[in-house]
Amino acid sequence: MPPNIPPSPGDFVYEADISTINKILGIKDDGIFVGHMYGHENVRIVLDPETLLRLHFAIFGSTGSGKSYTVGVIVEEFLRLGYPVVIFDVHGEYSTLSMPNENGDEVAELIRLGLRPRKFEIRLFHPSQMTVGLEDLDIDAISEVTSMTPIMSDLLYLAFKHIDRIEYTLDNIRDSDQKKEWIDRLVRAVSVVASRWRFDNKTKIAIRRRLETLKELSIFGERLDINRLVGKGVATIIDISYGLTEYEKAVYVGLILKKTVRCKEKKTNTPTTGDRRGKPHIRTPRQGNL
Ligand SMILES: Nc1ncnc2c1ncn2[C@@H]1O[C@H](COP(=O)(O)OP(=O)(O)OP(=O)(O)O)[C@@H](O)[C@H]1O
Ligand SMILES: [Mg+2]
Repeated sequence: MPPNIPPSPGDFVYEADISTINKILGIKDDGIFVGHMYGHENVRIVLDPETLLRLHFAIFGSTGSGKSYTVGVIVEEFLRLGYPVVIFDVHGEYSTLSMPNENGDEVAELIRLGLRPRKFEIRLFHPSQMTVGLEDLDIDAISEVTSMTPIMSDLLYLAFKHIDRIEYTLDNIRDSDQKKEWIDRLVRAVSVVASRWRFDNKTKIAIRRRLETLKELSIFGERLDINRLVGKGVATIIDISYGLTEYEKAVYVGLILKKTVRCKEKKTNTPTTGDRRGKPHIRTPRQGNL
């Protein structure tokens, strides 16, 4: 516990020793080693990987303050501990993970810190080499990436149910031509269900417009293979620094994250479309840095 009673005037004040600092900050022996405490070269800052991963974490700082560098260090530490890492590389700056640092000054600094330059196993892809399939879209994904209102999501849900009833489930669409028609089929189902349930015409048109837009995005191709994406102790780097619009980036990253989380939850490699409730929600930024 940090002290919560201020010292009285005239009390002696002692500098905390390393073990006290470590205890107060909850620093363990092994984990994500990010550096030393400012002004205390002998205090190693080691973060607990599980605490770091349990929720979300972010690194903030002004331009050039060292955010990417810090992310690089954390990624290397996760890889060293055997975690799989997937990087959506917005600036195309992470492929150097596969090369050991050869900068003389930096190597000397590493050695001074008791470290050595290392290279890591990476898999480098452009989105055109790691596509997502239209079949990877479920109700949640479509609603979320196209920013649907709750009413639109309800109509979409009914349209999916309608398609299910006439036995066109996503999983049994195997033929590639049929895949391309999937969105058209969904558009037709939206029309049928909209009149049956007397949805507003505006809602129907808004959904159709969103579905038609999705179809035109360049990120769709072969279905995402999660085993290509994730490997123990391997950094998969997807370079999204060129070739995609901001909207395509958001949809692409959102879909991959959704599918990855779903696979993790089910602990299986064959995800299906599933139910619309009880899914984790992942928000991806519409613009700017990821
Ligand atoms: N802890 C560090 N030790 C040594 N050099 C560092 C450290 N952190 C950052 N640098 C150096 O500072 C420069 C800027 O760092 P970096 O690119 O990580 O900043 P950034 O916050 O990501 O910037 P931007 O906002 O432009 O993306 C780089 O040359 C990097 O090598
Ligand atoms: Mg940066």
